[in-house]
Amino acid sequence: MLALETPQPASVLYARVSRVITPMEWPAFAADAEAILRLKRQREAIILAHNYQSPEIFHCVADVVGDSLALAREAARSDAKVIVMAGVHFMAETAKLMNPSKIVLTPDLKAGCSLAESITPADVALLRAAYPGVPIVTYVNTSAAVKAVSDICCTSANARKVVESLGVPRVIMIPDEYLARNVAAETSVEIIAWRGRCEVHEQFTAADIRELREAHPDAIVLAHPECSPEVVAAADFAGSTADMIGYVGQKRPARVALVTECSMSDNVAVHYPEVEFVRPCALCPHMKRITLAKIRRALETLSDEVTIDPAIAAPARRAVERMLAL
Ligand code: 13P
Ligand code: SF4
Repeated sequence: MLALETPQPASVLYARVSRVITPMEWPAFAADAEAILRLKRQREAIILAHNYQSPEIFHCVADVVGDSLALAREAARSDAKVIVMAGVHFMAETAKLMNPSKIVLTPDLKAGCSLAESITPADVALLRAAYPGVPIVTYVNTSAAVKAVSDICCTSANARKVVESLGVPRVIMIPDEYLARNVAAETSVEIIAWRGRCEVHEQFTAADIRELREAHPDAIVLAHPECSPEVVAAADFAGSTADMIGYVGQKRPARVALVTECSMSDNVAVHYPEVEFVRPCALCPHMKRITLAKIRRALETLSDEVTIDPAIAAPARRAVERMLAL
């Protein structure tokens, strides 16, 4: 059953983020945050927020927060009338695929992703022709149209498991070259990669990690597998955004560096005041298109709605469901 939080006064909301948002900054968010909590009840809506969303979204108005895998699962089981995706477009499309009878809203239609942009269905057709019979594992960071011509999806949390579940010696993994190479380093399955890159994670270099370790010798370094294999090799641990958060929660290192999008550290720091976060981070300009003001507008106007051509939706849903069933 849909159980929405009772609207809270701005002072209660501010207490949740006071470690990472200054009293000077908060007035810019307060009215929108209060309005969103009221609107969610009126619309019977939930907000799913990715771990890269800004703290005022993540801690003050989201009903569910998580990595791509968790958000896809939550979208599938939600009984809300309206799902607002505080994340990028492929995440909103995945929510619509998983729960097609719901109204799925994106606060900004332009919130894209460099990986999703890096490959088209025509490219996938060329790969199929070049490697007949080799299954295609598609990262969830792709359009529904690309998922529709793929065999199975994966996320950074389950990529190796998905690859090995196919029981074949060779797979094509699209579109993230670095994720594919990082999985290839962990499995005996041969992986044919595409040349897509995350414009955020490709910025980090092994030299950055060396400098970071010189400046903070006791810091534990956690990296996202969209980083290059050299960065992943230089880190202490690599995993999805949820895996990184889980690592901090379990091990409580005195000092940690999350080699990923900047908001992650702020969002996690709120829960672990005893952990010092060193911030070698980069902003995702697409994730940052989502703001409280745009979420409020989406709920007020019930737009922009995400729709998917049914001819694409059916095969794309199969690829995501096949992953979720593992
Ligand atoms: P996660 O699935 O780890 O949350 O990653 C999504 C993403 O876009 C990372 O850049
Ligand atoms: Fe896409 Fe990279 Fe932004 Fe994630 S961080 S949404 S992979 S551009």
